[in-house]
Amino acid sequence: MLGIDALAPTTGQQVLDIGCGTGLNFSLLQERVGSSGTIVGIDRSAEMLHQARRRAQARGWENVILLQADMVLLDPGTIAARIEEGGGAEVSDAALATYSLSLMGDWEQAWTNMTRLLATHARVGVVDLQEPEGWARWLTPLARLACAVGGSDITAAPWQAVEERCVDVVRASARGGHLQIRAGKTTRDK
Ligand SMILES: C[S@@+](CC[C@H](N)C(=O)[O-])C[C@H]1O[C@@H](n2cnc3c(N)ncnc32)[C@H](O)[C@@H]1O
Repeated sequence: MLGIDALAPTTGQQVLDIGCGTGLNFSLLQERVGSSGTIVGIDRSAEMLHQARRRAQARGWENVILLQADMVLLDPGTIAARIEEGGGAEVSDAALATYSLSLMGDWEQAWTNMTRLLATHARVGVVDLQEPEGWARWLTPLARLACAVGGSDITAAPWQAVEERCVDVVRASARGGHLQIRAGKTTRDK
């Protein structure tokens, strides 16, 4: 998947999956971090986490930590302690947010909370949606409808945080620009 390719997590790393949902990213993340790495899935929905847990159990992944929390409201110190209690490290090496920040309302606060859980110079990957561009513009009403039904804000553009606050930024887009992918390395300022 383009977001994980751009994030490029490596063996042994601890990766946060922000708004992990049912854990659709886990399989590809596992391929990258291996059994010596850790995946920390954070989601506010108990139902989504239940599905994610079932996925991890079915695949025998013992390196997945799942936490129920609202990324906008959480206290990073408390979450870091819960990650440690679950067997992970207090500070994570990377974070991925696919189709989730645009659903969070105050995604800037979610970004701030996320970066407080990361090491300096951690990598962050964001995949999210905007209105299609160019030849694909005629699909705009459909894209707007899909986002409205899913509860996401098509104008949020949370990948801008990667553009503005990260270095070594990798950029990609797909589906006529509807899908925006960014990954970069956080700086001391984040
Ligand atoms: C469209 S799903 C994407 C799931 C997954 N990232 C994927 O790519 O399949 C968005 C997820 O973000 C979660 N979410 C939305 N707002 C959140 C918040 N404020 N804090 C934590 N999770 C949130 C939802 O519960 C949902 O599971």
